Amino acid sequence: MAHRRPGALIVLEGPDRSGKSTQAAFLVRELRSRGLSVVHTREPGGTGFAEAIRRILLDPRHKVQPLAELLLYEAARAQHTQERLVPALKAGAVVVCERYTLATLVYQGEARGLDIPMIRRLNRVATGGLKPDLTLVLDVPDREFHRRQSRRPDRLELESRRFRRRVREGYRRLAKTEPRTALIDADRSLEAVHEEIRRRVQRLLNGNPHPDPWRRGRSPLTPCRRLIKPTALPLRGKGRTA
Ligand SMILES: Nc1ncnc2c1ncn2[C@@H]1O[C@H](COP(=O)(O)OP(=O)(O)O)[C@@H](O)[C@H]1O
Ligand SMILES: [Mg+2]
Repeated sequence: MAHRRPGALIVLEGPDRSGKSTQAAFLVRELRSRGLSVVHTREPGGTGFAEAIRRILLDPRHKVQPLAELLLYEAARAQHTQERLVPALKAGAVVVCERYTLATLVYQGEARGLDIPMIRRLNRVATGGLKPDLTLVLDVPDREFHRRQSRRPDRLELESRRFRRRVREGYRRLAKTEPRTALIDADRSLEAVHEEIRRRVQRLLNGNPHPDPWRRGRSPLTPCRRLIKPTALPLRGKGRTA
């Protein structure tokens, strides 16, 4: 896969069991085989502390208030962004991340009904404004959710069919309106889905951004503009992490 320069944040999104982890692993292998420096990570998680938050979030024993859930996702995100994403991007790596801010808009906003502008504000605070270069949303019909069961369901996989429908519809709707985001038909073979992801990532790394009226004509790969500006950080002075 030819590329002009490395350093990009690529996010895989989609409902539970849509194939994010599988496709992330394929993509990472592909990019590494081309000699790129690649970091594979996920949300919630990706650092020791954030993985501990993940375990709480996915534990089916807990009954969780939507707002408490939202704040834990954002806490994990703040940690992961500072500890993992920012250093990797500064070092020029291609980062493949399973889930990011779009998941929160969909699950906590569209599916749980929390205020979307509030979620956008918290996303901005938790990430310091770090945006993906490309978000790929894997879309699958609900029947695949039942077919693709492989292990004991986590707390979110135990949600109702209605919840899953809202998640899918939320992703399909936001994939059309969010910047640099594409919907991918993931109701196909692993190979067919991988091929489409590979093609879109290649286009990005070649310097051809996803067609996007917000940023038309600008290169998506300007690592410096993505680095967190001190003014965008919620913390100042003592205790600041970057
Ligand atoms: N395109 C596909 N067709 C059939 N099964 C798939 C496909 N993609 C993933 N799977 C299977 O579905 C299950 C969930 O996939 P996974 O990658 O873990 O999804 P996610 O990370 O989105 O929850 C796994 O057992 C995986 O092998
Ligand atoms: Mg997964």
